Amino acid sequence: MSKIRQRAIWGSKLGFLLAAIGSAVGLGNIWKFSYTAYKGGGGAFLVPYIVALFIAGLPLLILEYTLGHSQQGSTPLSFAKINKKMEIFGWWLPVAATFGVLLLYMVVIAWCFDYFLFSFSLEWGQETGAFFVNYLNRSESPFEIGSINFRISGVTAGLWFLCWLICVKEINHGIEKACMVFIPLLLLLTTILVICAVSLDGAALGIEKYLYPDWGKINIFKKNSIEAWKIWSSAFGQTFFTLSLGFGIMVTYSSYLPKKTSIVGNAVWTAIANCTYSIFAGFAVFGVLGFMAGQTGEAFDKVAEGGPGLAFVVYPNAITQLPFGEFWNGLFGATFFLALVIAGLSSAVSLLEAFTCSLTDKFRMKRWKVVSSLSLLGFLGSIIFTTRAGLLILDIVLHFIENYALLTGGIIECFLVGYMMKAKIARKHIEDTSGFKLSVLWDWCIMFITPVVLLIIISQSIYADRAMFLGESEQLKGYEGYPIASLWIYGVGALALTLLIAAGFTVFKWRNRHIHTTDEEQLLT
Ligand code: PHE
Repeated sequence: MSKIRQRAIWGSKLGFLLAAIGSAVGLGNIWKFSYTAYKGGGGAFLVPYIVALFIAGLPLLILEYTLGHSQQGSTPLSFAKINKKMEIFGWWLPVAATFGVLLLYMVVIAWCFDYFLFSFSLEWGQETGAFFVNYLNRSESPFEIGSINFRISGVTAGLWFLCWLICVKEINHGIEKACMVFIPLLLLLTTILVICAVSLDGAALGIEKYLYPDWGKINIFKKNSIEAWKIWSSAFGQTFFTLSLGFGIMVTYSSYLPKKTSIVGNAVWTAIANCTYSIFAGFAVFGVLGFMAGQTGEAFDKVAEGGPGLAFVVYPNAITQLPFGEFWNGLFGATFFLALVIAGLSSAVSLLEAFTCSLTDKFRMKRWKVVSSLSLLGFLGSIIFTTRAGLLILDIVLHFIENYALLTGGIIECFLVGYMMKAKIARKHIEDTSGFKLSVLWDWCIMFITPVVLLIIISQSIYADRAMFLGESEQLKGYEGYPIASLWIYGVGALALTLLIAAGFTVFKWRNRHIHTTDEEQLLT
């Protein structure tokens, strides 16, 4: 029998929470939440959002924490301990969702870092849209890959190195320490942004647009309620992505918790911190959008944007026109992009950790070897997103991961814990380790309600993408100009490939004897 290796443990509860919050709070909280809310009925969007949080977000977060904590392992190990046949799905999460998102996330953080540098001299000038297209040297088609952008690849390499530096140490020294700095710093930067943004002329208009409730938009009982349904489903999708669920991250992070811990408390704090941050950051975004609308005299709807369009086109444009004077405007811009970089990095390390832990669990390789190989491989994989077609490919990959892979991952997890491990036993684990009596409602959620809701959302996505699946038209809504073949190759094809890779990992024998339960022995036989 080989030597028993102790699993690392978080240095403190706060350290764990900050790391989990660091994973949850990412680019999406800053550039996506507020815009989704604005489009989804302003303040009224909070209703579907909170319902989604209670029906899917929190129950699944509790599930992931319980899974990792009770099985003391990354997803492949936790899944395999419960049922060996499920191991392949345990690999599928880190391979499909985690690594896929990580490769492209790093490149997006690289753009943010470059824009952080550009801010000081307001390098984007007056034509911020053209500047962005020029910067990416974007091609017209996802198949027109063209050349690699060396500037972006260089920055991406630097960021991979930084992630490597953080992850190469055990979590309690690496990720925990990094998040202890990242999260307070992020909060400070965001507070500065919010204060400056709300003090701008016209900010009130933006904030009113952000928060004013339009109840009609979320009313699914009215006639023609398709749009309202879409808003509800976007609230569920958003909750999932924003809490980093379905990636196996929260399973991994909770596997490093000490025996006695408050799983439900941890989940509630992570969710509250994440959602409060999103709402708060929305003031920085909409304050500036309101100011922009006032400056340009255009209708608010024309000015408002979310996602990369907000960060790299609208925001830079607004920064140039701010009334603080050139130097301070630049500094405001730098603060914004630095906040994005930090929010992104604290999520990126969690993605790297989920995969690293899966490999060290199974192959008993040294941590530094795994982190180094993954970082190198990851950097090479990121390069595709630094080519001229990078943004277009990224759009496709993300669409399929967000709308299909993560939600499927969530359903599989519900099945695993709800039926194979048994929800009752999972609930007992929570009670035994924290003394907290969770309502039986949780069992119902993870056994019936959550998977059904997720299934409905996936069906909706399939319906929305039906043109592609049926090969009916050359244009998919939201993806006009993308050849259908590119969606099949970069989207469906990439996902199929990840399943193959996951199967490949499953074939190998478990080399690991160090994790202390007897189930482990079963795995080895
Ligand atoms: N939660 C992140 C966000 O909202 C997305 C993410 C998920 C990033 C998982 C990393 C890992 O942006």
